[in-house]
This record gives sequence, C-alpha cells and structure tokens, in this order.
Amino acid sequence: MQNHSNSEGKFRVYLDHNATTPHSSRLKSRWMELMDISGNPSSIHQDSRVSKTILRETRKKIADFLGCSPLEIIFNSGASEGNNSVLKSVYSLLRETRNEFLISHVEHPSVLKTAEALRSWGAVVHLIPVDRNGSLDLDFLKSKLSSKTALVSVMYANNETGSVFPIQEVTQLAHAAGALMHSDCVQMLGKSSVDFKLLDVDYATFSAHKFYSLKGTGFVYVKKSSPWQPLIHGGGQERSRRGGTENVTGIAALNIVLDELKSYEAKISEVQRMRDQMEAELLQRIPNISVTAVQGQRLANTSSLVITGVDGETLLMSLDLKGFSVSTGAACSSGNPEPSPVLLAMGLSRQEAQNSLRISLGWENNEGEVKSFINCLVETVEKLRAIEAEEGKKDYAG
Ligand SMILES: Cc1ncc(COP(=O)(O)O)c(C=O)c1O
Repeated sequence: MQNHSNSEGKFRVYLDHNATTPHSSRLKSRWMELMDISGNPSSIHQDSRVSKTILRETRKKIADFLGCSPLEIIFNSGASEGNNSVLKSVYSLLRETRNEFLISHVEHPSVLKTAEALRSWGAVVHLIPVDRNGSLDLDFLKSKLSSKTALVSVMYANNETGSVFPIQEVTQLAHAAGALMHSDCVQMLGKSSVDFKLLDVDYATFSAHKFYSLKGTGFVYVKKSSPWQPLIHGGGQERSRRGGTENVTGIAALNIVLDELKSYEAKISEVQRMRDQMEAELLQRIPNISVTAVQGQRLANTSSLVITGVDGETLLMSLDLKGFSVSTGAACSSGNPEPSPVLLAMGLSRQEAQNSLRISLGWENNEGEVKSFINCLVETVEKLRAIEAEEGKKDYAG
C-alpha cells in the first residue's frame, strides 16, 4: 500500500485513508524489533518484563496524548469491540433505571447494529437524524433526552462524508439529562487536532489501523467511575475489564506510531489545502458533480462526491485498474450492492448514493498524486458518461 508503486512495482496511489491507513515507515523500519517481544505481560518471570513495560508505557503515552489517566485506557482489538463493549455495558448495568439510547443515524455499523441488538433485548433506541449538510438534529436530541436516557452515542466524525459533529455541545446536553456520553473517535486521531479533554465524554473508542498502525489493535477511554462491564470475560487482564492476553506486538507498534501523531497533525492544513484544491478543480472540470456535506464542518482529508449518471462501483473499479484506491462508501460494506446507509440516512436518494465516490487523503499523499488522480477521474467520468450516452441514455456533458 505504498504510494506511487506497490510491492510489485506497479503504479498505485492510495486515497482511502478512512478505510485504513498504510503502516508508518518508522513502524516498518522497526518491525524486526517488535518480533523479539514475545513475553506474556501477565506472567511473573523476567521474560514478561519487556511486555509489561510496553503496556505501561503505551498506556501512559495514550493518556498523555488524550489528557486523561492511564487507568482510564483499556486495550482491546479495535473500535468494533470498543463500540460493542460501551453500548452493551451501559445497557446491562443501567437498564433497570435508564433503558433509552440516543444514537446518531449515521454511526458505523458496529454502533448501529449493537443498538439494534439492544433494542431486541428491550432497550428503546432513538436515531438522531442528520441532514444533507451533515448537521445533527439537536432539537430532536433535546426532545428525546429524559431521565430514562442511559447513553447518547455520536461519532466524532463520519467516516464516509467527513462531517464533524458538535460533541462538546451534545455531551453537555446528555450530561444535563443525567445521561452518559459515548463518541466513536476512530476518525479523529491523525486527522484532527481537537483537544480530546474538552469533549468531556464518558467513553471514546479508537482503532490503531486508522492512524498508520496495525489492524486488530485498539483502545477504549472509559472515564473514571463510569459503568463498565467486560464484553470478554477472562483472566483478569486490563484490571479485569477486558479478558484475553493483550496484543503486545500491536500495542508496541502503537507506541511507535504515537510518537508521530503530532507530526501528522502538523500536516492537516496541507492535506486540507490539497483536498480543497481537488474539489475546486473537479467542480470546475466535471459537469453535474456535487460535494456532500460541504457546508458543515468536515475532516480535512475527506471528500464525498456525487457524480450524476456514473455508477460509483463501476467508477471505483475503473480507477482501481488505473492505479487509484478510493471507495464508494464504508469499506466494511463494499461488495454489498446496496447504496450506503449513511448517505441514505442523510437524505440522499438511492440514485445519488449509488453515484457516490469517497476520496480520503493521508499525510503521505502529495500534490502530484492528487493532480494525476484529478486528471484520471475527469477522463474516466467522461468515458463512462459517453458509454451511457451511446447506449441511448442521458447526456451529462453540460
Ligand atoms: C467510524 C468507525 N467506527 C468504527 C470502525 C471499526 O473499527 P475497527 O476496524 O477497529 O473495528 C470504523 C472502521 O471502519 C470506523 O470508520
């Protein structure tokens, strides 16, 4: 997944950083070092010491980065596990007194499907609408918050459109009603320089492969004294909050990448400049194209386009053949012919959702790559529209 060329030397430009990120080059250069870490951190003998130290140091580094206590960090396998753990903990421990959940309609499936499971177990789940501009319906939230609300769950930023939600404000509303607040912060680290502590959430979920580290590694922030029950029961790891031997190699990799996070953040404005220039040029050169949620606050790296008359999947495959990796929706739902539920929830039509394309830049992309992508996209859209026109369908040329 290197830019310009892959391991077989073929031209590739990776523009799908919201699905996953390439491994940082610093991490790759230290890979063999990680292979030497094999001790079980829960053992007593000397061979466990290095692993124990890595857990302690990484937990401290994350805590310093977020501005919390190391005791508030629980290592796990990633954000799907984190999201399941938070929602199921709260339901299981509070359901007698508070059994209502307020969840944004555009959450990742690991939140929405968990909420569906809670509903089948007896919880009341309200989905907070999000409009085409990516704005969360705060009036709806206010109207549903009550002494029965257990948890409000709103992601920091949407993985498909990049819309950033007003977490601080939502947290204040949730807390005023005595409810707990969770935010899926997967798309935050490395893509935004927000001060996490200001969000004041009770739970936040993170995934290492979204910021240049390994898959299968993540952590959840659980504010001191917030209700918590392990999803995985086991041998007392993570202070009995998450059973199972910790993924020490993944956590050691995270430790290395955390040192680079500040330098990624320093590149955010450069990424935003490239994204904005790309959008401006595409809007100028391609007729009948629009950018979704452009009016609201967005992640600096994300661009969600609707290109009228062009099937997103066909476009994605054509671009892939020419060396560009992009996405039509969340990676987890690709291969699924249904249009993106997030875009539908925002009020786009099925047709618009099917005509969508997501480009998500990373800090290692450069202007030359973005330029060649723009040229390729313009050319490919022209060709696909010409084929459509030849087949007697609409003419989108002007
Ligand atoms: C917003 C969001 N939440 C959760 C997840 C799931 O993360 P993981 O792959 O660590 O389970 C993703 C990954 O696609 C995501 O984008």
